[in-house]
Amino acid sequence: MQPQALPGFRDFYPTDLALREHIFRTWRRVAARYGFEEYDGPPLEPLELYTAKSGEEIVGQLYSFTDRGGREVSLRPEMTPTLARMVAARANGLRKPIRWFSIPQLFRYERQQRGRLREHFQLNCDLIGEPGHLADAEIVALAIDAVRAFGLGPEDVRVRLSDRRLLTALLQNLGVAETQVPVVWQVFDKLRRTPEEITAAKLSGAGIPGATVERLLGLARSRSWSDLPGLGPGLDAALARGEPLRRTLESLEAMGYGDYLDLDLGIVRGLAYYTGTVFELFDARGELRAICGGGRYDNLLQSLGGVDLPALGFGMGDVVLGELLRERGLVPEPGSSIDVFLAAITPDDLPHVLGLARELRDAGLRVEYALAPQAVGKQLKLADARSARLAVVVGPDDRARGEVMVKDLRGKAQESVARSAVRERLTSAVGRVG
Ligand code: HAM
Repeated sequence: MQPQALPGFRDFYPTDLALREHIFRTWRRVAARYGFEEYDGPPLEPLELYTAKSGEEIVGQLYSFTDRGGREVSLRPEMTPTLARMVAARANGLRKPIRWFSIPQLFRYERQQRGRLREHFQLNCDLIGEPGHLADAEIVALAIDAVRAFGLGPEDVRVRLSDRRLLTALLQNLGVAETQVPVVWQVFDKLRRTPEEITAAKLSGAGIPGATVERLLGLARSRSWSDLPGLGPGLDAALARGEPLRRTLESLEAMGYGDYLDLDLGIVRGLAYYTGTVFELFDARGELRAICGGGRYDNLLQSLGGVDLPALGFGMGDVVLGELLRERGLVPEPGSSIDVFLAAITPDDLPHVLGLARELRDAGLRVEYALAPQAVGKQLKLADARSARLAVVVGPDDRARGEVMVKDLRGKAQESVARSAVRERLTSAVGRVG
């Protein structure tokens, strides 16, 4: 039997890793533009960090076990509890608002399906210490820029926003009993993946009267703030609870991101700790799972570390984003792995190739040569296969004149260059600084 990677775990061959690095580099660049600093935490945490705060869905997917010291531990399924713990532990010494990002690998024992694996990397950006709507707008803008930087526009990606405070107030206003609220949240969370009749049947099944079910479906269909008052009389008090969301949307429009935004009261989010704004990013065709999810969690630091600090942020996974980039042809062409290939004409030339390789590598160039004796033609074929930009051919006649032959493998030109000038010539041709 050939040993294989576990289901839901990826091998990253060099071309896969090149895409992953492209994603990480782009994310880091965008986070830096917003003044975010990078942090990290341990991949293994005490189990209770998640059982206390993350909510049933994630807790049911933990990679947890008892370690040799008898501790109940878990691989991290998400970063937010670690972040909350780290910030709470040093809250007094940190300048607010805290703007931190991280790119952890996370582990969830999920049913494997398209866009959902058992490990993934996730850009986490969180803003801590600021309760106002401009912080919400800042975090959503950063999430949009973190996809926009790959060349994805509003025709590729949609941001769906809601607010748990608003939804709770609207449900109260519609007379949904407190005991029925969790059912409505669950049903709303699955709205997009469920035909409307089934949603209606589930709501009726929870004992909600027909007229209220109709109004709830109306809420679920609303796509902009201006749709809401049309849902019926008496909603003013409830809409007042949505003021932070309205102002967040307004600020995002002022920033020029209006094209990406949809109000969507069906965005509830599975995690237990969210208290206000919640949002997710999806591919615009609605074919893939969520690319990103986040929201405000104003009580988590208090409950984990006794520090009263408002907070919000998002997690953006590499799996669905990678699928979308592949689908849209936005994966960069793989670059070549070397700059210069060195070829020896005779065995006597080999020591000169070795010395030159050392000199050029010290100068920062990426250099390769054949590791077994081969005809020059074969060596140059390998140079082509590696997409080398330049080749240097070292032969007895050129050497006798104190020269080597430099070939431009793209333009096919070649010239003799004094051995003493080779390093200078090649570094300026390649433009690489060591
Ligand atoms: P989440 O919605 O559980 O939120 O995950 C965020 C994103 O991570 C998802 O939208 C998806 O792209 C990716 N993701 C999640 N699970 C998987 C999986 N099994 N396979 C592939 N990708 C996955 C959180 O984790 C929150 N802690 C985010 C947050 C940060 N909220 C505030 N700050």
